[in-house]
Amino acid sequence: MANGVKFNNSYPDISKSKELYNRAYGLIPSLTQTLAKGPTQHIKGIAPVYLQRGKGSHVWDVDGNEYIDYTMGVGPISLGYCYDKVDEAIKAQLAGGITFSLMHPLEVEVAELIREVVPNAEMVRYSKSGADVTSAAVRLARAFTGREKVLCCGYHGWHDWYISVTDRNKGIPEAVKDLTFTFNYNDIKSVIESIDNDTACVILEPFVFEAPQKNFLHELKEICDSHGTLLIFDEMWTGFRIAVGGAQEFFNIKADLACFSKAAANGMPVSILTGRKDVMKLLESDVFFYTTFGGEALSLAAAKATINEIREKNVPAYLAQQGAKLKNGYNELAEKLGMKYTKCIGYECRSMVTFDTAAGNPLEMKSLVQQEMIKNGILWSGFHNMSFSHSDEDIIYTMKVYVEVLPILKKAVEEKNIRSYLRGEPVEPVFRKTSNFNTKPKKQSENIIKEVLENKNSN
Ligand SMILES: Cc1ncc(COP(=O)(O)O)c(C=O)c1O
Repeated sequence: MANGVKFNNSYPDISKSKELYNRAYGLIPSLTQTLAKGPTQHIKGIAPVYLQRGKGSHVWDVDGNEYIDYTMGVGPISLGYCYDKVDEAIKAQLAGGITFSLMHPLEVEVAELIREVVPNAEMVRYSKSGADVTSAAVRLARAFTGREKVLCCGYHGWHDWYISVTDRNKGIPEAVKDLTFTFNYNDIKSVIESIDNDTACVILEPFVFEAPQKNFLHELKEICDSHGTLLIFDEMWTGFRIAVGGAQEFFNIKADLACFSKAAANGMPVSILTGRKDVMKLLESDVFFYTTFGGEALSLAAAKATINEIREKNVPAYLAQQGAKLKNGYNELAEKLGMKYTKCIGYECRSMVTFDTAAGNPLEMKSLVQQEMIKNGILWSGFHNMSFSHSDEDIIYTMKVYVEVLPILKKAVEEKNIRSYLRGEPVEPVFRKTSNFNTKPKKQSENIIKEVLENKNSN
């Protein structure tokens, strides 16, 4: 019998997952199309590898094991799997067609809806992936300012301009690498030291897990304005989640451009670029941003139904309420157990469990918790990505599982032998280096002069 959402006696049988894994091995490089869903992010040999279906907040793997899901498609499943209103909208559209030879009315309807809810949406465009719209935003900023440099501080997708700042940057021309630099979140000094009159834009997630301190976002806006640099919000995670109008609404601030995807269409592939009219209008002439499936109607039908539902039901308030129960519950439990080295951090709609290196290898600790959560029917990657379908029953059960699992971690930490508790290979980091990496030299011109002088002196 397959494992269910209960205290199971054994780890799930994942033989069909393993069989599929073996078929894909050697055929699909890295096996996955989405890093966070792939084998490196799940304890090998224990975690299911392939999911078959989902309903609400629950998913079933290919072996028939059932789990409460806290990854939720890595963000897109904002309402829940197979959410009736969205699925009905998709089916109704499917009966009429998917992709057409001219534009579809939904392109207009969804744009009007987005203009109503997103604060800076004077104009709206669509595409398919988050990377599409962050890259379009960067290109627009370069075109608008006539400058080339980009400052960023988080993850913004797989395209050259961004991935060049990570350590997985093979295949990117040096010339491109020399144009993107990082700054540190909540460190306004790191921005001031990096920004100059050749900086086209500053792009960042308004927050990831840490809240903005000392008016960080508003200060950033002021600094950008005073340098003629555009401010771009990457609202992939904050959009339609922290508030209906995303972080711009939540923090009462307007970015020059904003990028959305994930939560907007409950799992259908759509991304959205919004922004100031004078900037966005460049897409009508000098800046090229077109793609075959940009106006694909099933996804737009899903976006319309999803955004309307998020607005009508005040979904962000529900995510915050349910997320708070888990976040606070986890922290109270960890404190009661005297486990100072683990915490749940972040805003309630999307929180993350952290493990302190002082207690052991964080990836091993995460793997152990994941392993034990999976045993008890919870698909867990260290995040609580809340959806409108996470019920009180789900939360109460999850807390009961934490009550069982955290003492196991505590014991492993106390014995200083977490590894011996693991029944498979631990999870791996995504990037080896992300912060304080490729920090922009203080002033490019000053450095060039210095270099010239040094060369001169050594000759
Ligand atoms: C903050 C952020 N920006 C951009 C992206 C890229 O989106 P996509 O994977 O749809 O290209 C992601 C993806 O996870 C993201 O989390």
